[in-house]
Amino acid sequence: MKALILAGGKGTRLRPITFSMAKQLVPVANKPVLFYGLEAIAEAGIREVGIIVGDTASEIQHAVGDGSRWGVQVTYIPQPEPLGLAHAVLTAEPYLGTTPFVMYLGDNLVTSGVRPLVEAFQAHKPNALILLAEVPNPQEFGVAQLQGERVVRLVEKPKDPPSNLALVGVYLFDHHIFEAARAIKPSWRGELEITDAIQYLIDQGYTVESRQISGWWKDTGNLEALLEANRLVLEEMPPSQHGTLVESQLYGRVAIGEGTQLIRCTVRGPAIIGHNCHLEDCYIGPFTSIGDGTVLKQCEIEYSIVLEGSRVEEIGTRIEGSLLGKNVSVRGVARRPRTLRLMLGDSSSVEIPT
Ligand code: DAU
Repeated sequence: MKALILAGGKGTRLRPITFSMAKQLVPVANKPVLFYGLEAIAEAGIREVGIIVGDTASEIQHAVGDGSRWGVQVTYIPQPEPLGLAHAVLTAEPYLGTTPFVMYLGDNLVTSGVRPLVEAFQAHKPNALILLAEVPNPQEFGVAQLQGERVVRLVEKPKDPPSNLALVGVYLFDHHIFEAARAIKPSWRGELEITDAIQYLIDQGYTVESRQISGWWKDTGNLEALLEANRLVLEEMPPSQHGTLVESQLYGRVAIGEGTQLIRCTVRGPAIIGHNCHLEDCYIGPFTSIGDGTVLKQCEIEYSIVLEGSRVEEIGTRIEGSLLGKNVSVRGVARRPRTLRLMLGDSSSVEIPT
């Protein structure tokens, strides 16, 4: 069995962060989302991993390398344009050949792992095995309609969902998926949808099994989901303390990296603070990830993700539900008149209490 990770695409829902970084490399608990997928695939005993890459190919290659860190052999497969998940599968056909494979969407996080699915696929040998999860917002996903245990219909992002069962971004296929991907037409959003390809398999009488997910799953493609994924990973993170504390208190699960200094700070976990950070007179609240080399002074941050190299200083209001990119600066100044001075990238979003 091989694996195919999809790490192309555009990441429009995470702009402006994704103007300068691949969405699959946005960190959750200070680790790129993509690495969780690689770990799950390696844990399932799969050694050959193809990674679909697009515009951000060099960044993904730089982060992942040859895969030896996970004990896998990575082959990069350029997709000239992000024309859909089924198009990505067709692009990988020469690499996959007739070997069955796990397809893993590089922006998805699944805690239950890949191994049980691989075992079920090898035992029953269906043509496809899909994973489903109950969600409150099925309109945002591919949605499955079941008759008993059998999948009868799949629709991509339906306005009027036939159920609340979303397609999770982990799929297992045999080579018939290539025939299906070749047979379908682009959807209303101009993409060759994997959902339509699986529907083709069902319609042609191929076996499509489904499993409901145990544990949690997040598609980290937008801010809300990313913060939730961060919360869920931090809840399971083991605490570790490698920094220097001066008049500071840590409560609950807190991880602090090497070379980090906390002076007169309170950290209420679960939270992670990276390496070589400097925190002074700060409160870090639950479900917060602070990247390496960050400087925080006289501020309060909770339920947020701050990427490496950022500075937040003298902010009188608690920062919450936020994502700060790399090398961002947010600074309070005692200036009159009390005006806001902003330099925001395209598609940035700021909320200011009125
Ligand atoms: O997250 C689960 C959902 O993923 C499923 O419920 C949907 O049925 C499925 O279509 C997919 O929907 P999204 O609209 O969220 O897919 P997205 O465009 O975010 O792409 C998923 C991953 O695949 C992401 O890492 C980018 C990558 N990708 C995407 C496209 C369209 C590629 O590598 N190539 C592509 O052409």
